Amino acid sequence: MAPRRGALGLLGGLACLATASSVAGQGADLAPGERVYRENCAVCHGVRGDGQGMAAHHFLHKPRDLTKGRFKFHSTASGQVPTDADLRRSIVQGVPSTAMVPQDHLSALEVDAVIAFVKSLSPRFAASPPKVLAIPPEPPRTPDAIARGRRAYDKGECAECHGREGRGDGPSAKDLSIKPTDLTKRPFKSGPGARDIVRTLLTGLDGTPMPSYYQVLEDDELWELAWYVDSLGGPPAVTEDERWGWHVERMHQRRSR
Ligand code: HEC
Ligand code: HEC
Repeated sequence: MAPRRGALGLLGGLACLATASSVAGQGADLAPGERVYRENCAVCHGVRGDGQGMAAHHFLHKPRDLTKGRFKFHSTASGQVPTDADLRRSIVQGVPSTAMVPQDHLSALEVDAVIAFVKSLSPRFAASPPKVLAIPPEPPRTPDAIARGRRAYDKGECAECHGREGRGDGPSAKDLSIKPTDLTKRPFKSGPGARDIVRTLLTGLDGTPMPSYYQVLEDDELWELAWYVDSLGGPPAVTEDERWGWHVERMHQRRSR
């Protein structure tokens, strides 16, 4: 473990450089958020937020480059930046099955501060606030809803990527650099409920091949499809990325104390 500790020392030094560059041109006091970031996030997302933290190479799913302002998980239209609430969800709940383990050891104030700092890393957040895409009201869940959900799966051509049985093995899957999710495996990254699946279908996952179905599927179809996808799920599993994420987090907390 010695080389790792050495690199953490280096990290502290680099952090001073980041202070100077990222605070320039910002009115708000970003120092508290930057401190939280340095102690809890930089090890994976990099001191400058470029996703090149010292632990990044361990993971199959790479830590997000936060300077690009392009996020997978948001309640806003495809291509738009997330809201504060979206960032809070990703940070506090984490991204299951990846190294982004829940950062639930942070206080509410620390989370708010780190959100402000994350937003300072990309100029895309400076534009007008993003518009939330409303999740349509949940229709009554009748017995044949799941059968209709299966039809929506065909209409949306989900099988092209996710495969006929949802196992992530559709004809296009082999050509994609980010593999389509095996929809029979749990947990999902975007959250545990059918509502989270509806959000994923509405917004798409930016920076991945997962498209937005906003105005492609009807409101009821979105819910029926979400129930169908939900019904494919098996028991939750733990991935290598997650195990490594816990390891990195513990190592880091020891150091921050
Ligand atoms: C152990 C490594 C690790 C640590 C520590 C970590 N992250 Fe992450 N983070 C990741 C990985 C890996 C992903 C990408 C998951 C994916 O691609 O699905 C991610 C994703 C995210 C996302 C979601 C990005 C999106 O596209 O929607 C946000 C926001 C985020 N991290 C912020 C933070 C903040 C803030 C902290 C510190 C409080 C932090 N992370 C700590 C590894 C980490
Ligand atoms: C062009 C290929 C493609 C098509 C078409 C597609 N997906 Fe995806 N989908 C992906 C990829 C790739 C991911 C994985 C993104 C990631 O892991 O970051 C994904 C992710 C998802 C997730 C998120 C799982 C999670 O962990 O949160 C759900 C749910 C999903 N797709 C359902 C569907 C449904 C339902 C359809 C049809 C309406 C569909 N997808 C159509 C490529 C596609």
